[in-house]
Amino acid sequence: TDLDHFITHLPKAELHLHIEGSLEPELMFSLAKRNRLDLPFKSVEEIRAAYNFSNLQDFLDIYYAGAQALRTEEDFRDLTTAYFDRAAADGVLHAEIFFDPQTHTDRGLPFSVAIEGILAGLAEAKAKHGITSELILCFLRHLDEEAAFATFRAAEPWLNHIKGVGLDSSELGHPPHKFARVFAAAGAAGLKRVAHAGEEGPAAYVREALDVLHIDRLDHGNHALDDDALVRELAERQITLTVCPLSNVRLCVVPDISAHPIDTMLAKGLRATVNSDDPAYFGGYVGENFKAVARGRKLSREQLVTLARNSFLGAFLDDATRQDYL
Ligand code: HPA
Ligand code: ZN
Repeated sequence: TDLDHFITHLPKAELHLHIEGSLEPELMFSLAKRNRLDLPFKSVEEIRAAYNFSNLQDFLDIYYAGAQALRTEEDFRDLTTAYFDRAAADGVLHAEIFFDPQTHTDRGLPFSVAIEGILAGLAEAKAKHGITSELILCFLRHLDEEAAFATFRAAEPWLNHIKGVGLDSSELGHPPHKFARVFAAAGAAGLKRVAHAGEEGPAAYVREALDVLHIDRLDHGNHALDDDALVRELAERQITLTVCPLSNVRLCVVPDISAHPIDTMLAKGLRATVNSDDPAYFGGYVGENFKAVARGRKLSREQLVTLARNSFLGAFLDDATRQDYL
């Protein structure tokens, strides 16, 4: 349709994408075969049927299990190039992607395997599609502070290839302040700071992410809407929110797409963006996320342009490159 065409050709940046969450069942099977692994599933259909989540933890259990199929640098490169092929088809010009090193180092892979494979994929995507990218290292918040510090130390040789640090995994019970010191160390090393907050956690976690972690961007942020003073501050400071509509539906953060607050966020002056989070698990890449909110919330072309433009305003680009994209 006309709307689909408009969305596909809208220049956009993706700012909230877990590369491990782009592992499609088909690739999971072919990697398992290549690595001679036994998967707990017999078919692609059986895998997809298991993607029926009622909360974040349900999803995380399956997401960490799926990541076990990734064993070699080549696996991480293939994962990354597959994502960028999809992103190119969706009109993505720039992507800032997360990776979860602890998911891999905790099962014995060297830190180098994941990052070298991903970096090879990023270089290939630039050569093939012209897509620019940045890499954001996420700490798993269900693990402790010392594990995050160990991960940060392991990343040391690659810091010039890492734009920032993030915080993901099980939110409830793992408030941002748990990682105050490692985020301070990352800031002192010149890295940007982002954190998942207000996905399942309360507005108070968003407040902590701002005041204690000193984040440069907020991942999700849905529950910030419960606190008017917080909303005013996010709007005044033009903090970018990386919102993930299909993820929100699939993880029951919102009851359905017609109840998604994306346009409420815009109306309150928040710099909201649209992103895919874990597209292989949540039913669509960034284009599908735009289409879902466009239809579900009857967004105008002007609102869609604002959302796409916000993605470049919120990206960690230098001013000249940002101007080129805007
Ligand atoms: N929330 C928290 N952790 C995650 C997510 C998410 O949406 N996706 C991958 N890890
Ligand atoms: Zn996420």
